[in-house]
Amino acid sequence: MKFNIALLAGDGIGPEVIDQAVKVSDAVAKKFGHEITWKPALTGAAAIDAVGEPYPDETHDVCATSDAVLFGAIGHPKYDNDPSAPVRPEQGLLKMRKKLGLFANVRPTFTFSSLLDKSPLKKERIEGTDLVFLRELTGGIYFGEKGRRDDGETAYDNCVYTRAEIQRLAKKGFELAMTRSKKLCCVDKANVLETSRLWRETVQAMEKDYPEVEVSYEFVDAVAMRLVQWPNEYDVLITENLFGDILTDEASVISGSMGLMPSASMGADIALFEPIHGSYPQATGLNIANPMATVLSAAMMFETAFNLPEEGKAIRNVVNKALAEGIVTEDLANGGKTYGTKEVGDWLAANI
Ligand code: IPM
Ligand code: MN
Repeated sequence: MKFNIALLAGDGIGPEVIDQAVKVSDAVAKKFGHEITWKPALTGAAAIDAVGEPYPDETHDVCATSDAVLFGAIGHPKYDNDPSAPVRPEQGLLKMRKKLGLFANVRPTFTFSSLLDKSPLKKERIEGTDLVFLRELTGGIYFGEKGRRDDGETAYDNCVYTRAEIQRLAKKGFELAMTRSKKLCCVDKANVLETSRLWRETVQAMEKDYPEVEVSYEFVDAVAMRLVQWPNEYDVLITENLFGDILTDEASVISGSMGLMPSASMGADIALFEPIHGSYPQATGLNIANPMATVLSAAMMFETAFNLPEEGKAIRNVVNKALAEGIVTEDLANGGKTYGTKEVGDWLAANI
């Protein structure tokens, strides 16, 4: 098969980890007889520097006309402590999600048997963890009206959800639960927030369409606690944008390194694949960033965007092999030798 893939490397370590995912994807394509045409485009601080806009129209056109988008990371420290900066790299990411209609962010959390001792959590608690967050990605407080009033003395961010937005995300959650252990947890703060009450009401009304799925409703603060106590109790979790952002960072601790967890963002047409980690500016250009999360995002791309599970499996297998054989970057050091970003990528591509 032939694929056009938009390649958005972004900022910080983005270009380095993306390079490795490209190498590994090309190796898989070669092995299985596919042809990939990569379509690089600017995004984030790199795009602001070049054209003054973090998600330029040209980049959107490249994404919208490709078969999938592979994304690195966005963010630059020069904007972090400057609240008055008129354009910020992160705005590019939000604009991209909105314009591409990527309302469902799939963030799996799983463990690797060779890395159980890398997590600060007890091995017996995390062993076998295999859960998936479905985070709503184009609504909520990220996109509601925001601003300042009273001469700048009062700031506000509005959290808005419509029933339709909740339904389309929850539908994906129910469908995913049906392919797994048929357990769905709706995470909200319905004891306080009106938007959460609408989430709960909407999901409850959908239960009858999926009689086999066992649905639980839990408050986000309790989930934050139980997630690191008993991660095995969860399977599919659906939640709104901000709660999902926070809980998925927390959940990455279960796997042992943020550098390991991939994600997919889906909508009606196009899907985007990216690591859940950020741009890690301190590591830029040092060849130390862990490329595994981006490589595993490419695996998700083959599996979900192209419906090629064997190709995805080939990537997952080679990643597992590298982890078991200690072909890892320094974040996963185990007293032994560690490898550079590029060397890990080369090894993965060579061993596909
Ligand atoms: C993420 C990131 C983004 C988010 C930032 C960079 C805007 O943290 O993808 O989780 O908050 O969604
Ligand atoms: Mn985040």
